Amino acid sequence: MIRLEVKNLNKSFKVHTRGGIEVKGFENINLEVRQGEFLSLYGPSGAGKSSILKTLFRTYTTSSGEIIFHKDNGKTIDISIASESEILNLRKSEIGYVSQFLQILPRVSAVDVVSEQLVFKGESEDVSRVKAKELLDYLSIREELFDLSPLTFSGGEQQRVNIAKGIIAPKSLLLLDEPTASLDKTNTMKVVEKLKVLKEKGVSMVGIFHDLEAMEVISDKIYKLERVG
Ligand SMILES: Nc1ncnc2c1ncn2[C@@H]1O[C@H](COP(=O)(O)OP(=O)(O)OP(=O)(O)O)[C@@H](O)[C@H]1O
Ligand SMILES: [Mg+2]
Repeated sequence: MIRLEVKNLNKSFKVHTRGGIEVKGFENINLEVRQGEFLSLYGPSGAGKSSILKTLFRTYTTSSGEIIFHKDNGKTIDISIASESEILNLRKSEIGYVSQFLQILPRVSAVDVVSEQLVFKGESEDVSRVKAKELLDYLSIREELFDLSPLTFSGGEQQRVNIAKGIIAPKSLLLLDEPTASLDKTNTMKVVEKLKVLKEKGVSMVGIFHDLEAMEVISDKIYKLERVG
């Protein structure tokens, strides 16, 4: 089953603070992701990889082209023109985005940041906390940190909490922007193992990796981007 079709997608930014200068984000992107497939975006810095993910998540609007998402109920929706409320619903139930950096509220513990994703989905608080602790432990977060706010964690620890938050209650499409950028090889490969399990469960993913070995292990398809302009 096809999950996502991107057709002739273009994005240019108009920088209003600079008298409306146009900056090209990316040009003429065409791709298709099936259920349970991992597609990697690969290319030089500035090629538009992050901008593509943000456009798929509708953090950025589309300049032209189509982003056809196939929902679990069989209906399709064009993310490039969907209403704000449709986008909010998609983000709630079907499309997840794991940014490179953790963005959370202060004073919420690491376990709660992760477990609340399961609670939102209807799981009980107790079960959610047990599962969150298991995943944090798997990602080598020390137990003494579980009840602290991740805001004081190291860069790599924050990133692992962020991944745990992003994958514990997986949606049908996950967008991953350099999820392992500050991790060592061991933790990078542990994350890759978890992503493989998600693939087996039918989760589709579009991701960016700076670690080429990780990219090759996980990817079903690699979409190469050239520098624009
Ligand atoms: N909000 C924005 N406003 C203006 N220009 C932007 C904006 N976001 C991205 N760009 C421009 O779009 C181009 C692509 O940027 P993007 O962040 O997508 O690249 P990338 O491939 O993810 O690079 P990297 O590998 O360094 O993360 C860059 O030239 C950048 O300056
Ligand atoms: Mg980027």
